[in-house]
Amino acid sequence: MSPGSLLKKISMFEALSIKDREELAQLLRYQTIKKGEILFRKGDEGTALYLIKSGRIRIVLKVRLEDEMTLAVLSDGDFFGEMSLLDGLPRSADASAHEDTELYVLNRTDFIRFLMHSEHAMKAILYTLSTRLRKTDDLLGETAFLNISSRLAKRLVELAETRGIHQAGSMHVELTLTQKELASLVGVSRESINKELKRWRARNLVATSRNRLIITDLAAIRKHVR
Ligand code: CMP
Repeated sequence: MSPGSLLKKISMFEALSIKDREELAQLLRYQTIKKGEILFRKGDEGTALYLIKSGRIRIVLKVRLEDEMTLAVLSDGDFFGEMSLLDGLPRSADASAHEDTELYVLNRTDFIRFLMHSEHAMKAILYTLSTRLRKTDDLLGETAFLNISSRLAKRLVELAETRGIHQAGSMHVELTLTQKELASLVGVSRESINKELKRWRARNLVATSRNRLIITDLAAIRKHVR
């Protein structure tokens, strides 16, 4: 996909005329990042906005050396890195590649200049910020009021729906996922997720191997979601 075609798919840029879109496309720099690499860390200076051409980027908050919380997993057509460009403060979270990822990079000055000239872009960015804040509010509510069992069930049902390989006519769903990743998605320590999964294995709800988790009874797990 050319930078111009990608811009057309991103709400912030969709209202641009063909000429303006082509002009903006000229300002984008192509960058690739390998699975597991860190693009930037919380506290770094924000110098650019990133658009995802293909792949997936994890936005992560590191709590302690071992523990982290995944705030979002962004994919094709999403953008990130706008917050520090808008408020002038350092990066609010880490961004790393969840898989090999292709990006387009727009430097800060070009992004701000573009935003100042486009009411549509301003509205689109506010829309995205509110959507992300709503999701984060939900996550905060879950963390404060739901126990680990309910949170784990909720995340596994979401993962089964978005990333799971379902076996026809059965409640078995296979997920490629490490326990570290799962702990980060639920927002608990690795030890806590280990303990919970042990209980779930004993009840035949899941089976686990090194980087795979098999949901053996999705219907039963759905019942845990409150
Ligand atoms: P910035 O603070 O520049 O760098 C980290 C980026 O992660 C941030 O901009 C946003 O683009 C993104 N981000 C931060 N917090 C969240 C969140 N709660 N949900 C989704 N994306 C986020």
